[in-house]
Amino acid sequence: MQLAFDTVRELTRIVSDAAAQCEGFDPSFEPEVRAAEPRFGDYQANGVLPFAKRNKTNPRALATTLLEKLQTLPPFSDGQATLEIAGPGFLNIRLSAGYKFAWLKQFSDESSYASGAKALLAGKTVVVDYPSPNTAKQMHIGHLRPMVIGEAVARLIEFCGAKVIRDNHLGDWGTNFGTLIMAIKREGYDLDAASGEAALAEIERLYKLGTSLEKEDESGATRDASRAELKKLQEGDPENTALWEKIVATSNEAFEKIYAMLGVKPDVTLGESFYRDKVDRIYEELSACGLAEESDGALVVFHPEHPRFAKQPFIIRKQDGASNYASTDLATLLYRRDEFGADEVVYLTDGRQRDHFEQLFLTAQKWFDKQGYTLPKLAHVWWGTILGEDGKAIKTRSGEPIYLRALLGEAIERARAIVDEKSPELSDEEKQTIATAVGLGAVRYADLSQNRTQDYVFAWDKLLAFDGNSAPYLLMAAARVHSIFRKAGVDLASTDFEAEASPIETEEELALARKLMNFPEALALAVSDLRPHHLCTYLYELAGDFSTFFNANRVIVDEPDVKARRLLLCARTVRTLETGLHLLGITPLQRM
Ligand code: ARG
Repeated sequence: MQLAFDTVRELTRIVSDAAAQCEGFDPSFEPEVRAAEPRFGDYQANGVLPFAKRNKTNPRALATTLLEKLQTLPPFSDGQATLEIAGPGFLNIRLSAGYKFAWLKQFSDESSYASGAKALLAGKTVVVDYPSPNTAKQMHIGHLRPMVIGEAVARLIEFCGAKVIRDNHLGDWGTNFGTLIMAIKREGYDLDAASGEAALAEIERLYKLGTSLEKEDESGATRDASRAELKKLQEGDPENTALWEKIVATSNEAFEKIYAMLGVKPDVTLGESFYRDKVDRIYEELSACGLAEESDGALVVFHPEHPRFAKQPFIIRKQDGASNYASTDLATLLYRRDEFGADEVVYLTDGRQRDHFEQLFLTAQKWFDKQGYTLPKLAHVWWGTILGEDGKAIKTRSGEPIYLRALLGEAIERARAIVDEKSPELSDEEKQTIATAVGLGAVRYADLSQNRTQDYVFAWDKLLAFDGNSAPYLLMAAARVHSIFRKAGVDLASTDFEAEASPIETEEELALARKLMNFPEALALAVSDLRPHHLCTYLYELAGDFSTFFNANRVIVDEPDVKARRLLLCARTVRTLETGLHLLGITPLQRM
């Protein structure tokens, strides 16, 4: 028997097909299958009630017809699943122990999960736009989210079968370069003298100095000087171009160290500057098709049908004739469609850019429509702020930003202190490997486990706790399973022992099996919503169900068949946990 990976989708298909053969249903019927509360069964199909309401028919009678039809079809007709009507017309579905066991045998590791999940996005090309930082600034805690959420989203999409292009849309072409070059020239700073993070810190200092020089000079001459430097840069002046290149290279060098720490590997880095010769086409096309108009010397797009954007235009060329964030993003979208064949583009930024993306998407839709281009599906994945324990945007005590390098270093150090205390017997090297996985994993997981659109409080104690919904807890749960195998003297990597397994039977075995079978659903939800916290919640619940099972059912027992089936459940649990952790960008451990 070949089973479907995602049971919800499979049951949806079966119930739909059955309804199509029943009187009283039509194609607008949606089965609405979901995992049920255990006391109601394994799954529920809740779609009859709303359908009956819409059609003013009796839901119970309709449910009865559907049930009778379903009973003639597999898996119901061959005893692999049972059905009952509950309440006014819900269908409760229970899968047999045999069905669950067969599923567990079929889906045994990350690669079999991947081949099951592939159905979701196979054949699609998705551009994921992250981490896309702005150059000339050191990365601070605010840069955590684009990297962490971006990486998880990219991995999820890739796991579900799409071809993913990680496109780092670097902010490397803004007005700030005028100010920066002005300040560098006044200070006479030698950019070649320093390197790495220190050089970037110096660039950041010079930029801040530049802005205060501009502010202090009431004559406006300093501001004019910055503007003149910017203009020279835009016109390709060799000296300014060399300075700009150096600044971008210095920024990238520092960024790459942090990318490496967090496992972020852009496939392409095409910054805003890459599109500077591609914006003219945008002005021309948008003007020619009547979308863009001149307003106070700028080129803008209004959206008359929109409550806000009817008055607040999308500015695509500034008064001084320069391109901006909007023109660049329009050119970028066209490039991604033409060069990458993007079916979808996912943009990751914080919530403050919601208006920008809403205007971008509206503009793109109208423009592509008029030109007869096919518009990729567009999504803005945004998030809230990281708060300090005082509930305000997190900063150091003296009000400085918290730099990311320091933060990640501190995470590893704090984890190391815990490992030193808990596992003094391990070698130094092992301790450091564990501390790195735990520290970085904890920071990541704290970020990912929250619904991204909400703000969250960054609290060391909570994110490093070994109980509760944290990375250390999940890493520990996975490591515990490895230790069960070590103690049993069974090789987790081999599936030889599974041949002896008898079908699952106890309440806790069945509950764990059921939870394991919910993995595809959690995955589908996380990827369709582009919200990794759905996966986190699932993994946390799985670890909980595993612990209930483990406390109630001894694994290493004398009966070889019982031992084998419990080891099988242990093996599936750890593979699911590890697959989930990989998708979240967290390195699982075999020992802690
Ligand atoms: N550089 C921008 C920032 O740091 C994010 C860019 C996001 N991507 C885009 N295509 N607009 O805010």
